[in-house]
Amino acid sequence: MTDTHPAIAIRNVAFSWDGDFSIEIDTFDVAPGERVMLLGPSGGGKSTFLNLVAGIVPPSRGSIDILGTDIAALRGAKADGYRADSFGIVFQQFNLLPWLSARDNVLIPLRFSKQRRKRAAPAKDSANRLLGALGIDSALFRTPAGRLSVGQQQRVAAARALIGSPGVILADEPTSALDRAMADAFLDLLYGEIGGAGSALLMVSHDETLAGGFDRVVRLDDIVRVSRRAIA
Ligand SMILES: Nc1ncnc2c1ncn2[C@@H]1O[C@H](COP(=O)(O)OP(=O)(O)OP(=O)(O)O)[C@@H](O)[C@H]1O
Ligand SMILES: [Mg+2]
Repeated sequence: MTDTHPAIAIRNVAFSWDGDFSIEIDTFDVAPGERVMLLGPSGGGKSTFLNLVAGIVPPSRGSIDILGTDIAALRGAKADGYRADSFGIVFQQFNLLPWLSARDNVLIPLRFSKQRRKRAAPAKDSANRLLGALGIDSALFRTPAGRLSVGQQQRVAAARALIGSPGVILADEPTSALDRAMADAFLDLLYGEIGGAGSALLMVSHDETLAGGFDRVVRLDDIVRVSRRAIA
């Protein structure tokens, strides 16, 4: 991670799901360490946008610079490696491996990123600390993720995103399954972790009342042009 490059710099990007739902973004920037909340209606394209930023889906044109590297131009193992080094992602559906323990899920990014492995060493202690800080009882660390409550799974997914301090945290409605007190505690922990690491945060939420701790609130409509194919 370096302070000389923006955390995220998008230029002239287009993407389409088979022509049915298309988006265009002219410019969008997030500074290193900046906390940005992204608001938008359901079905508006927020998850699609995060997938583009993360390099999970490739744009049909344009550049997506993450910490100084255009991930839209990377392919295969290089793209995977750069993604694992750069991003912690809390997916809307969590994407945990249900048969693996809570702790082993948290440790997954360290298998794919040497940088994060170094920063998190000793790995088990880091995983335990993050899970504990997120309010997961130590009795559950070895429980298969599929047997946890939805709110517990969401917090395991957050710990997995944070381990090894990646430069960019992308979080898709990471508090949707948490009650208000838990959501506030979760955000405090998130701010503490990313503040210490200097990571940028791009978080999707429906809940504007959570916006207080963010440097900037962005409406998807203001940065993305959407077109939908009419259904006959
Ligand atoms: N994997 C996919 N394949 C095809 N179309 C998709 C896919 N994922 C999303 N879409 C389409 O993209 C559009 C935007 O969906 P997206 O999931 O990005 O919205 P969202 O803003 O995240 O919604 P929500 O707030 O409900 O999570 C929808 O019309 C959806 O049908
Ligand atoms: Mg979504």
